[in-house]
Amino acid sequence: KPIFILNGPNLNLLGKRQPEIYGHDTLEDVERNCAAVAAEKGFEVQLFQSNYEGGLVELIHRAREEACAIVINPGAYTHTSVAILDALNAFEGPVFECHISNVHKRESFRHHSYVSLRADGVMAGFGVEGYALCVRRVCSLLAG
Ligand code: DQA
Repeated sequence: KPIFILNGPNLNLLGKRQPEIYGHDTLEDVERNCAAVAAEKGFEVQLFQSNYEGGLVELIHRAREEACAIVINPGAYTHTSVAILDALNAFEGPVFECHISNVHKRESFRHHSYVSLRADGVMAGFGVEGYALCVRRVCSLLAG
């Protein structure tokens, strides 16, 4: 089973949106990079993006059957969504939360994360490299 890399609202604009905060790499670059890291350890990744809260909930439900682990950047829903937390609580494998920017250095409304109540680990402020670091961690956890 692949590792699902789930991305929330506005992350389809990655590379174009506020590059001073989020950098110039796109989600395609993220997927390529994560796939390379996973392949070294014999794993695969599948990347998805949705601008809708319910779309992310449904992708997490799909992960229950189809994924061995979830790396998720829920975007702004990080700070608001009990529904995404509940969906993640219904997923049994490892969950890693990834933020490109250091949310703790930004506005106070970004300091709280519902998803952190479920996440096995959290990355913030490592740029898009954070995704690959999460994938690396998932691989070593699952390799036992
Ligand atoms: C983000 C941080 C969130 O606060 C913001 O709403 C995003 C991106 C990040 O990757 O740094 O959309 O999750």
